[in-house]
Amino acid sequence: MLATVIENESVRCIHRPDPVPMTREVLVRVEAAGVNGADLLQRRGRYPAPADAPPDIPGLEFAGEVVALGPATSRFAVGDRVMGLVGGGAQAELITVHERVAMPVPAGLDWVAAGALPEIFSTAFDALFGQAHLQPGERVLVNGGAGGVGTAAVQLAAWAGATVVATVRRPELAERVASLGAVTVVAEVGDRQAEEHGPFDVVLELVGAANLPNSLRWLARGGRVCMIGVGAGAKAEVNVLHLMSARGTVHGSTLRSAPLESKAALARDVERHVLPGFEQGRLAVHVDATFPLADVHDAYEHFAAGGKFGKVVLTMS
Ligand SMILES: NC(=O)c1ccc[n+]([C@@H]2O[C@H](COP(=O)([O-])OP(=O)(O)OC[C@H]3O[C@@H](n4cnc5c(N)ncnc54)[C@H](OP(=O)(O)O)[C@@H]3O)[C@@H](O)[C@H]2O)c1
Repeated sequence: MLATVIENESVRCIHRPDPVPMTREVLVRVEAAGVNGADLLQRRGRYPAPADAPPDIPGLEFAGEVVALGPATSRFAVGDRVMGLVGGGAQAELITVHERVAMPVPAGLDWVAAGALPEIFSTAFDALFGQAHLQPGERVLVNGGAGGVGTAAVQLAAWAGATVVATVRRPELAERVASLGAVTVVAEVGDRQAEEHGPFDVVLELVGAANLPNSLRWLARGGRVCMIGVGAGAKAEVNVLHLMSARGTVHGSTLRSAPLESKAALARDVERHVLPGFEQGRLAVHVDATFPLADVHDAYEHFAAGGKFGKVVLTMS
């Protein structure tokens, strides 16, 4: 198979042996695979793959067709359209994946959208509902609304009946994020522009720890902050009196290293609570750009340049 490989802090596409499915794995011919910030970090040698993933083939999500089955699988048949979240290895023509982390692709969803769905919608769903227990009528602040996870989180929170405020740093993207169901505020990390829209029951952090002092300051009573992305920095000095007086909670999580049990449980939650939104036309994957697998270097550079709305996706056919 052709696969993206990380070598000397760069990516290129080369031939690798085809993987073989183990007992409860399915072999998938990948049609599309999203690019994520974690891939760029791994390229720079700063985010090694977990033990259950290939060490040098990046890619945290895929969509494709099942082409072979391990001997003890039962969830899928050859020919099924599947997608899923993995610890690595998705940016290749073939991947083996435990059947419990694979999800059926909703009817009508094309390969590009399906290949870019698992990471952003699983992350946003787990943060907003699994961790922060967002309720209808609550007010949520999404910091980083124009990125992949941000575009998913705004849609999910709005669909759940929350009032959504989202920060974006590029004014030209504000209207597109607003069209997903949010009041948008143009702000760099650490800025105070969102304050007038608070206090917030939930803050989803996708940008950096420098937003945390303000997030705690603007927390409603019983409010929850969920730390998911810290690309703009992981350290901040906070006044914990703000947390205490709000009787607040700070959550955090990284999905990539989560055990199989957690990933499988999340996949079932996404199947039950998120995928129907695609079938009903309530949710969409917003794709900024697609690149053929052979141009993986250009795809990473496009992602790194910033200013995108939603996802960057590699296509294999
Ligand atoms: N914990 C987990 O399990 C998990 C899972 C998925 C993702 N993540 C992380 O969560 C973050 C968001 O993921 P994503 O896929 O949405 O990434 P993304 O598509 O790159 O989006 C990040 C957004 O943050 C904005 N941003 C970056 N630096 C900023 C700054 N200094 N001030 C204001 N805005 C800034 C970006 O704007 P520009 O385009 O203008 O730079 C972009 O709109 C990433 O750091 C990712 O690695 C974590």
